[in-house]
Amino acid sequence: METKVLSAALPEGIELAGQLLRQGELVAIPTETVYGLAANALDPIAVPKIFAVKGRPQDNPLIVHISSIEMWKTLVSKLPEDALTLAKEFWPGPLTIILPKSELVPAVTSAGLDTVGVRMPSHKAALAIIEAAGVPLAGPSANLSGSPSPTEAAHCVEDLSGKIPLIIDGGSCEVGIESTVVSLVEQPIVLRPGAITPQQISAALGKEVAVSHTATSPLDHDEAPQSPGMKYRHYSPKAKVIIVEGERAAFNRFLESTDSDAYALIFAEDASSCPRPYVVYGTEEDSLSQAKGLFGSLRLLDALGARIVYARKPDQSGVGLGVYNRMLRAAGFEVISL
Ligand code: TXA
Ligand code: MG
Repeated sequence: METKVLSAALPEGIELAGQLLRQGELVAIPTETVYGLAANALDPIAVPKIFAVKGRPQDNPLIVHISSIEMWKTLVSKLPEDALTLAKEFWPGPLTIILPKSELVPAVTSAGLDTVGVRMPSHKAALAIIEAAGVPLAGPSANLSGSPSPTEAAHCVEDLSGKIPLIIDGGSCEVGIESTVVSLVEQPIVLRPGAITPQQISAALGKEVAVSHTATSPLDHDEAPQSPGMKYRHYSPKAKVIIVEGERAAFNRFLESTDSDAYALIFAEDASSCPRPYVVYGTEEDSLSQAKGLFGSLRLLDALGARIVYARKPDQSGVGLGVYNRMLRAAGFEVISL
């Protein structure tokens, strides 16, 4: 299959995306978090193509993207006050809200669960494509399962060229890590940390919000995941990544003791004194810059042929929790404390 890449600035691109999606085809679309691999969420023939193209496990449900609250009402069987409060505060934006699903959502979209995760993206092209398609769009990240999520159209080309008819290029993703996932099925709980922090959600709701322990630790051996995605080792580059916790001077001394072909994944401030080849993923005090840079830097390390990578641990407060969560998964939870 020939894959077209069209700019999000071209009205023809948005129109073609809408048309292909209505016909049951897949299109990679930009969002403010990461690029999504979209299909008509209500089409039980189209949605399985997402799983096939990505090589995604069938038991991992898809997020559904909407462009209006009216669309949301058709997808869920109830819409509690808390959900409306969060939507008002954070949509359009990087927050996915899980609620009991309606009959309209096919089992393949929710992977057989009786709940559905929905979000209204803020990227203008994403909203325009949903509108052009006229249906809610199922959309996991537009990478092959296991590789880092795509934050540039070029990453989608790398993973999906020849496999889908169209990629819409909307530039670099502003946020860079996937949306925060919060479940309101029972007591509010953050299942996946992201740019909207648990503190912000808690402040909006005026109550405590739990954070799943899987934000910073693997599932226990006998634990049933609340979110099937927790089971899988996501975001892994080909290189072995090990997180190193410690100040710059100690980190540099540690690097000097490692094999000379080791790479470092560091902050911009570390660059001038780094004793090994390195890739920068953000600045030290700015979690948003780290979120924006992380996945691209993991892809770059692979392109450089890195076999082993020592990464400086990000601060894990606020948005940093989302950054640390993705890095932990890339590292298979391997952390060295100096
Ligand atoms: O930012 C994002 O959320 C991106 C962009 C494209 O919107 N999408 C994304 O989708 O990250 P995906 O499919 O890669 O991640 C969805 C996560 C998975 O960990 C999945 O297990 C969880 O959300 N999830 C989805 N529906 C769920 C449900 N009904 N119950 C529990 N977890 C759910
Ligand atoms: Mg993903």
